[in-house]
Amino acid sequence: MQRTLAIIKPDALKKGYAGKIIDHILNAGFTIKALKLTRISPAQAGAFYAVHRGRPFYDDLVQFMSSGPIIPMVLEKENAVADFRSLIGATDPAEAAEGTIRKLYGTDKGQNAVHGSDSPENAEIEIHFFFSEAEILQNSEA
Ligand code: CMP
Repeated sequence: MQRTLAIIKPDALKKGYAGKIIDHILNAGFTIKALKLTRISPAQAGAFYAVHRGRPFYDDLVQFMSSGPIIPMVLEKENAVADFRSLIGATDPAEAAEGTIRKLYGTDKGQNAVHGSDSPENAEIEIHFFFSEAEILQNSEA
């Protein structure tokens, strides 16, 4: 079993897509091990996306991710990281495959509805950005 961090981004929450996106994730066989409705400050968003610091889209990304509520989630499944990235589709919703979450619910490269970790190592780092291990259901509980 593997874990990944998913975030439902401010655009998707504002448009009322959170329920549909969670349903899509559950139907794809992921188990939700932790979930919260929260928001992050610009400083926190900057730290979360520190790997992108210096890229042309960084300032917009930080502003957008701190512009409204988000729903981070810990998801578990075999091959969770790669399978979740397949489920969400390409960064740009216009290039995402039919039926993917970004194709269905994203707007553009910046406002693309969801985030998914890009490696198992980053997944564990990103999970602990939002959740302590005590907040994450263990296999004996769920
Ligand atoms: P995400 O998976 O959250 O990780 C980094 C984010 O940067 C990405 O999704 C996009 O929403 C955002 N972004 C904005 N512009 C670009 C761009 N030109 N190329 C890549 N990512 C971008």
